[in-house]
Amino acid sequence: MPVNIALRDHLLTRRSVGQAFLREPGPDAEQLRQILTIGTRVPDHGKLAPWRLIVIAGDERAKAGERLAEIAKAKNPQIEEVALENERRQFLPAPLTIGVLSKAAPHPKIPEFEQLISAGNVAFNLEHAAFALGFAATWVTRWYAYDETASLMLGAREGERFVGFISIGTPAAVIEDRPRPALDDIVSYWHG
Ligand SMILES: Cc1cc2nc3c(=O)[nH]c(=O)nc-3n(C[C@H](O)[C@H](O)[C@H](O)COP(=O)(O)O)c2cc1C
Repeated sequence: MPVNIALRDHLLTRRSVGQAFLREPGPDAEQLRQILTIGTRVPDHGKLAPWRLIVIAGDERAKAGERLAEIAKAKNPQIEEVALENERRQFLPAPLTIGVLSKAAPHPKIPEFEQLISAGNVAFNLEHAAFALGFAATWVTRWYAYDETASLMLGAREGERFVGFISIGTPAAVIEDRPRPALDDIVSYWHG
């Protein structure tokens, strides 16, 4: 196969752009379809498709934030207004966020661990898809991926859990790279 220079160079330099720096325009309906199609084209042992996606976009972003604020307030009635306002803005200003749910469940052949990893593949592939279409993206979990009430409110069904929320938009800033692990620290060669 020929070298795909653009893809190689992208993979060598890509990095996330935090939610706070993601702005309009976001993907249109056709671009979103492509992002979802690419995002779910992942290794998946047993072809179980052990994941689901929830798109939070448009006016639903503020509604979802308001519901998070209500849950946060119910859990902690002393919560300060500034913290509540942060909750209201959890899905803003990014034009859209895709929640990735793992449906990993007992299976006669495929370990749940592998099903969970496949959902992680979906999350990162959504980021690649967003970048391929000229957008930027980031992956967060935040407290609501670990809170049952919040996860159910955001669309999880019984037995499912969010592996992350991928926010997508146009970058409003150039993000400096961060230090990467030295290969010598993380790679070794097996010798028998
Ligand atoms: C599973 C997972 C969950 C994450 N959750 C958060 C989070 O809740 N908040 C946050 O600021 N960053 C979170 N991050 C990290 C961001 O995605 C971070 O910006 C990213 O690791 C940057 O990597 P990059 O520079 O290689 O793109 C999470 C990353 C992963 C893999």
